Amino acid sequence: MATEDAYTAEPFVPDRGGLSALRKAAANCRGCPLHRDATQTVFGDGSADARFLLVGEQPGDQEDRQGKPFVGPGGRVLQRALPEAGLDPADAYFTNAVKHFKFTQSEPRKRRIHKAPTLREVAACEPWLAAELAVVEPELIVLLGAIAGKAMLGSSFRVTQVRGTVLEEEIHGRPERLVPTVHPSAVLRADDREAAYRGLLADLKVAAQALK
Ligand code: URA
Ligand code: SF4
Repeated sequence: MATEDAYTAEPFVPDRGGLSALRKAAANCRGCPLHRDATQTVFGDGSADARFLLVGEQPGDQEDRQGKPFVGPGGRVLQRALPEAGLDPADAYFTNAVKHFKFTQSEPRKRRIHKAPTLREVAACEPWLAAELAVVEPELIVLLGAIAGKAMLGSSFRVTQVRGTVLEEEIHGRPERLVPTVHPSAVLRADDREAAYRGLLADLKVAAQALK
């Protein structure tokens, strides 16, 4: 078994083949302990020709069951907001910083409660994100929340400081443009959901403008 310090997806990532080869290999990733309790790997979804890449945190309960990102309540917020902001979901590649669902459960058969991944788990899973980025080569990256931002830009990332702006950063030797915003599930937890949704929408409109 790998020691804790050795958490990494790296040895599982194939160095050739497109998204289908990556997805197939990711199904067997054992790069960190999160694969143990989750149902399946939830790899990214979308075309290699996608114009923009959206990065969330990790799959939730529904995503874990269905094997597809952004199909649960948070995903529905996003699917509503994209076209409203002028972004075509057909142009998007959807993925997460971490590919397995992390949760707590008080008893078997009780509801599984989402638990935030640690930075070590985020770092372990990052080779998958890097591989997706290298295949898709998006014109723009939309960062959904703090974990996505930390996965791509490092642990000093603060979403409140940079949301709704176009950042230009070099990632794995390639210049990238990124627009950070809040996590769509945070909209559902906000005291004022309407205001939180309008904030998400305003940030996504910045992304839509940057893609014009
Ligand atoms: N669904 C996902 O796949 N990822 C998130 O970050 C939230 C909802
Ligand atoms: Fe591999 Fe990522 Fe799953 Fe950990 S969370 S086992 S690194 S795919």
